[in-house]
Amino acid sequence: MSRPKLYFDILTLFPNFFHSPLRTSLVSKAIKNKLIHVTVHDIRQFGIGTHKQVDDRPFGGGPGMVLKPDVLELALKNVLAQGRTRGLRVKPKVILLDPTGASFNQEKAEVFSKKRWFILICGHYEGVDERFKDLFVDEQISIGDYVLSGGETAALVVIEGVSRLLPGFVGEAESTLSESFTEVKLNGKVSRLLDYPVYTRPEGFKGRQAPKILLSGNHGAIENWRMEKRVEKTRKIRPDLLQRSKSRDR
Ligand code: ADE
Repeated sequence: MSRPKLYFDILTLFPNFFHSPLRTSLVSKAIKNKLIHVTVHDIRQFGIGTHKQVDDRPFGGGPGMVLKPDVLELALKNVLAQGRTRGLRVKPKVILLDPTGASFNQEKAEVFSKKRWFILICGHYEGVDERFKDLFVDEQISIGDYVLSGGETAALVVIEGVSRLLPGFVGEAESTLSESFTEVKLNGKVSRLLDYPVYTRPEGFKGRQAPKILLSGNHGAIENWRMEKRVEKTRKIRPDLLQRSKSRDR
């Protein structure tokens, strides 16, 4: 039997959070089909003392609680040992989900989809002791410029965003080759554009007709129209994507 392409180990204080999302949708199908392997670990298991303490007050005062570096180290080492018993010989990429991290985007998802093993650590409360980050975390990732209560939602976003790029995650009909944020060549530049608008039956809906060109059967013309719409929509809604487009030698 072939081995999963990607392994994700999630370290969290809220393991139940993942119950439903990993059992529904295309992610659950990918798990069932052994395209990906996801294990959820409860950080509290590695808590200290009878109260299984996982966090403490920040030195210097201030609000909130900070996740203890010794607890996280124990949890991480346990995951590393389990990985080895699963036969994983590669070094995992240890990611901390944190609003102060680098932005997760399609480019990042593409890079990650070429890797083999991820350990996703969900931060909480006031944050994670900086020494743990310095010593054990390869990359901090944020899913956007807003603050969530913890990294759990972000971990799911990373798992889905990365896994759906693996061959076999989506069916042939829903290929990920042409969609928002995939690279396209435009006037000698490589850009990541928003996707084009789509229409289906009925042809007329509340007095609005689907664009005639889409019914023409002229595939070349349809392709040109779709590219025009992508540029138009991107210019209107996300002009930053056009400014960001990279020049490529050809
Ligand atoms: N934890 C809290 N907010 C977050 C964000 N925006 N991205 C990743 N992890 C987070």
